[in-house]
Amino acid sequence: MNQIISAGSKDSEANAKKRRSAEAALRYVEPGNVLGVGTGSTVGHFIAALAARPGLVRSAVSSSEATTRLLQAAGIEVLDLNEVAAIHVYIDGADEATRARHLIKGGGGALTREKIVAAAAQRFVCIVDDGKLVGTLGAFPLPIEVIPMARELVARAIEARGGRPVWRRECVTDNGNHVLDVHGLSIPDPCALECELNQIAGVVTVGLFAKRPADVLVVGTATGTETI
Ligand code: A5P
Repeated sequence: MNQIISAGSKDSEANAKKRRSAEAALRYVEPGNVLGVGTGSTVGHFIAALAARPGLVRSAVSSSEATTRLLQAAGIEVLDLNEVAAIHVYIDGADEATRARHLIKGGGGALTREKIVAAAAQRFVCIVDDGKLVGTLGAFPLPIEVIPMARELVARAIEARGGRPVWRRECVTDNGNHVLDVHGLSIPDPCALECELNQIAGVVTVGLFAKRPADVLVVGTATGTETI
């Protein structure tokens, strides 16, 4: 019983930190901006904060079907990226982040559209709780989206590089693809690994965001936020 209580309070602590970082990210949004919006529970707090400021943002490009539903419920029009000249700011969470603003993303399986929207954005503001800040990426298993027919081919190529890929069986991405979560990696050079893994045939997206890192990291803490 004690364990359940302490796990619950740890969760709500992390949740409060996520909310702090999400609300602080509002200062990067200017009236009339076209936003890019990521996916996940931290982004859920951000969309709730937007909903409490009607009129600040009228339209956004979404990174997933789940986020599209939340945006529409908040009264924000969802635009097709092909019809948008510029995304002023992209707001998204991450699974791990370093002080160099390199990220692991894809815990929610939305990494491909997230990477596309990040690439299209003038500014990428990443919102995380301080439990996600690490010295070296890799304790969180690295998600890789793969074409389904290439899943085992990619898995073998990753094993040859010392990783331990696990197929996320319950997950089919919004793009109809599979996800491998790669355990056992320590990633001292995220740009190099991102480039290397991108070369494997069948890889759609590597969940390393290092070649295009976040521009700003807003970290929710027990007492406020830290901006990196
Ligand atoms: C979604 O695919 C991920 O990239 C999320 O950004 C990441 O998993 C963070 O999620 P939470 O905000 O729910 O922790």
